[in-house]
Amino acid sequence: MIGLVYTQPIEEGLAYWLSSADVLAQVEAIEASLRDLGHTSVRIPVTRDLKRFVKAVEDAEVHAAFNLCESLDDDPFFVAHPAAVLELLGIPFTGSPSAALQTTTDKHLMKLILRGAGLPTPKSFLYDGTVDTDPREMDFPVIIKPRSQDASIGIDQDSVIEASAALPEALTAFYEAYGPLLVEEYIDGREFNVSLLGSPTPVVLPVAEIDFTTMPDHLHHIVGYRAKWEPDSIAYRETRRVFPQLDPPLAARLNTLATECFQLFGLRDYGRVDLRMDKDGSLHVLEINANPCLSPDAGFPAAAGQAGLDYTAMVAQMTTLLGDRRV
Ligand SMILES: Nc1ncnc2c1ncn2[C@@H]1O[C@H](COP(=O)(O)OP(=O)(O)O)[C@@H](O)[C@H]1O
Ligand SMILES: [Mg+2]
Repeated sequence: MIGLVYTQPIEEGLAYWLSSADVLAQVEAIEASLRDLGHTSVRIPVTRDLKRFVKAVEDAEVHAAFNLCESLDDDPFFVAHPAAVLELLGIPFTGSPSAALQTTTDKHLMKLILRGAGLPTPKSFLYDGTVDTDPREMDFPVIIKPRSQDASIGIDQDSVIEASAALPEALTAFYEAYGPLLVEEYIDGREFNVSLLGSPTPVVLPVAEIDFTTMPDHLHHIVGYRAKWEPDSIAYRETRRVFPQLDPPLAARLNTLATECFQLFGLRDYGRVDLRMDKDGSLHVLEINANPCLSPDAGFPAAAGQAGLDYTAMVAQMTTLLGDRRV
């Protein structure tokens, strides 16, 4: 029996419910594909109730799992814990090991590791209530992001700060709302999403770019929370995903950087690396998504589709990788 292990969404109507409930679309789609492929699966929603989780896995005699867990109880601190429990139970599961989920969710730690490995990423500092880095060392604008979030939670137009004078007030307000923050130099330029599939050596799927050309001038060209989750917003409509024909040298650099990130962080099966290009043409890694969203309309399945893999073929590949796995 394959377990579909996923975060139980937060209550409807709470802030960020849209991104939280999205996991149900992933569960439905994967369940349907597994059925088409002749597998039986069982849904296992996860909360912080460890005993209930373990009992559900044992009662259903789960021998392998699709791990679709994100932040448990809306808390990204627990992003890796369900994977760690599966590791302890000896149940093979899809996607990255718990260690990779943990390190890539902490944006500050992720950037320290990137820098340590000599990979390009925008200059940044951590704000955890007091500034111990002189913000004057940063080139403005900067962007403020919650240290450990995903899905663009806490990122929107007011996250981009144009001048150092406005930073202290913004830091205080964002810190109150989201806790520790990453303050990062803002890269004004093209944005690419590179999806990778496979293990241990992944294949790079066709590269997606965000088309900002129709975004009104008064808006920063970013994919904030509205752009990801609110279909009626201008930000959502004017940040379309496209699959451009890239110059071969650019495509090669994107492939190499994304593959290095995948391997550096020990990702497994599937991942997506987000990058930006500055005005000089240099690439910068913004973030690494271990276990990116698998909703039928999300970036990873779209890239798989461009490579000729429909949703069920994508699930079939992941299931094959799972079949070979030993924990
Ligand atoms: N340094 C940056 N320069 C320009 N845009 C950025 C930068 N960091 C983030 N963004 C914008 O914000 C979006 C979300 O940021 P990201 O770091 O990917 O966080 P999340 O984990 O929430 O997706 C990016 O897709 C990009 O559009
Ligand atoms: Mg991102």
